[in-house]
Amino acid sequence: MFGIKKATPRKRGRPKGSKTKKTSTTKAPVRIYKGNKAPSVYKTEKKAVDKNKLKVNDIIYNLTKENRHVNKCALILESPAMLTTKALKKAGFTERQIEIPNFDKKDYQGIKRKHKNTYNVSVGEFLDMVENFGRESFDIAFLDYMCTLTGNKACSPKEDITKYYKYRFPKHNSILAITLSYRSKNGDVIDLISYVQNEARKFGMNATLLQESFSYPGMFVTFFNVQKI
Ligand SMILES: C[S@@+](CC[C@H](N)C(=O)[O-])C[C@H]1O[C@@H](n2cnc3c(N)ncnc32)[C@H](O)[C@@H]1O
Repeated sequence: MFGIKKATPRKRGRPKGSKTKKTSTTKAPVRIYKGNKAPSVYKTEKKAVDKNKLKVNDIIYNLTKENRHVNKCALILESPAMLTTKALKKAGFTERQIEIPNFDKKDYQGIKRKHKNTYNVSVGEFLDMVENFGRESFDIAFLDYMCTLTGNKACSPKEDITKYYKYRFPKHNSILAITLSYRSKNGDVIDLISYVQNEARKFGMNATLLQESFSYPGMFVTFFNVQKI
């Protein structure tokens, strides 16, 4: 667990030998459908058989299965149905390589029973915790939010995304997957893509939108390949 390890400063800056490339903005199409508002509480039992969630986790599996790193690490938002954990394990991640923050007490307890590296904190608090005490960088971060990009008091996707880059957590060639609910369809998707790509550039990285990104009623999920430049 991060919190009990003695802090060892992580290496910062660009990895040796990485080239400085001009940033490029890939605009893969994101299909938007009309739909209802996102649910405010996560309904684990229903979602375990929700075809959209199964599709998302299939994509997560396909995007990570080629990863041959020995010391890989994943940061995910998870529910007690453990769909994302199952997808990552199938792709070759071990239990210890998967880190799960969850700010909802009930969901946290349900997950903690099945997965040791689970913490009852928000994503933002988790990122601060790793920055202060850990020494991780991530092969994949799946921020499977249930709010809009603007968020609310408890959940702030924008702050989390900025912290994720600022603390230099993405490995070169890593996956950043983000689910959000939308209020105004296309506008919200475009805002997220711009935010993720602009913030990446600010911190010397490129975030390329992948064509696996898609939307379903009330929600959209975007996949980015993050490269250090
Ligand atoms: C959508 S579910 C995860 C589903 C899972 N990835 C799947 O594909 O089946 C999101 C979970 O993350 C938690 N969560 C949402 N936003 C969070 C945040 N900012 N910090 C910590 N936990 C959060 C919720 O309580 C919920 O249990």
